[in-house]
Amino acid sequence: MAAAASHSIHDRPWLDPAQKPFIQIQGVSKQFGPFVAVDNVDLDIYRGELFSLLGGSGCGKTTLLRMIAGFETPTSGRIVIDGEDMSSVPPYDRPVNMMFQSYALFPHMTVEQNVAYGLKRDGVAKAEIQSRVNDMLGMVELTQFRKRKPHQLSGGQRQRVALARSLVKNPKVLLLDEPLGALDKRLREQTQYELMNIQDRLGVTFVVVTHDQEEAMTLSTRIAVMDQGYFQQIGTPTEIYEYPVTRFVANFIGSANMFEGRVASQEDEIAEVTVDTLPVPIRAEHAAPLAAGTRAWVAVRPEKVQLSREPFSQAGINMLEGQVEEIGYYGESSTYRIRINEDVRLEVTHPNLRRPRDGRHLAEWEDKVYVGWEPGAAVVLTS
Ligand SMILES: Nc1ncnc2c1ncn2[C@@H]1O[C@H](COP(=O)(O)OP(=O)(O)OP(=O)(O)O)[C@@H](O)[C@H]1O
Ligand SMILES: [Mg+2]
Repeated sequence: MAAAASHSIHDRPWLDPAQKPFIQIQGVSKQFGPFVAVDNVDLDIYRGELFSLLGGSGCGKTTLLRMIAGFETPTSGRIVIDGEDMSSVPPYDRPVNMMFQSYALFPHMTVEQNVAYGLKRDGVAKAEIQSRVNDMLGMVELTQFRKRKPHQLSGGQRQRVALARSLVKNPKVLLLDEPLGALDKRLREQTQYELMNIQDRLGVTFVVVTHDQEEAMTLSTRIAVMDQGYFQQIGTPTEIYEYPVTRFVANFIGSANMFEGRVASQEDEIAEVTVDTLPVPIRAEHAAPLAAGTRAWVAVRPEKVQLSREPFSQAGINMLEGQVEEIGYYGESSTYRIRINEDVRLEVTHPNLRRPRDGRHLAEWEDKVYVGWEPGAAVVLTS
């Protein structure tokens, strides 16, 4: 998982009740005939945020973005930007610029002319156009291709032209639909940091659509995890990853070991859950009180599971005995599949802090091992 962006407390306007949201999405739905693409969503986005809409294909991300831009009219609900109801404001009068998922470059114009087009149309002075276009082309590493036409570029290069074209106008809100999809890993990471820099420098509010969870984690002040037209969870990357509120979120962001059972008891914020397929009850965190007998799932991330050849000595830790069934070696880390019993496999990820000794890893195929985690490292989910 890539490093999450570190934002200071000043960059957390959603925690400050005195702050007014910049974009307010209020009870917004969109139906196409009988099909509900966006289902009664509420969302506040603050000035200067880099907000990501994250979800699988067809969950309604583009539709929501198009409603913010004004290319699609909500079936119900309303969208307010900077205090103004957008219901009767056409796209070109909104303080918003959108980079489309399938962006169209002007085929007969050079890279430079494509980027300059919007500024020219707005009557910006020639010298200023030149300097802003130069800056942008430098940023997306296209300076040397400035005289080429789109058909002489690769897919990733075309995407960078589209990105430069939407950024060059310094809009207050920039809506980006899968902006980095066609870039290779290195450029993608670099462009992510550039986006974050631009946001810091210009205070542009970004709403970014992506189905790439790592990208969302790295870029965002906050993420809305979307599924079938509604939000499963809205939170910072850390909240979403460490405290998923549903099984969908736990599985969609990163991976999770999941055990289904029933709540046996709860003390303070730790619940004990009985799992049919496990020999011992397991304990995990849940802030709100849960009634005994509640159907529940315990989710624990693979990197939070300790792995050892010896039993853990710490009291209170959830411990299971198993056997190594599979090892995936990724260089910097290894993933172990541990067979607990007939029905249960547990995935454990460990950083490879040392080189293997005599070619032996922390655990080898068929080894008998102990796996465990602290109750606070796992969460209880009820839906
Ligand atoms: N004009 C339309 N008429 C009918 N159905 C539509 C229309 N536009 C979108 N849909 C449907 O609405 C749903 C959401 O579409 P949307 O484009 O918002 O998905 P998405 O989350 O952006 O997916 P992707 O990641 O594949 O781009 C899909 O099931 C899609 O088929
Ligand atoms: Mg889309």
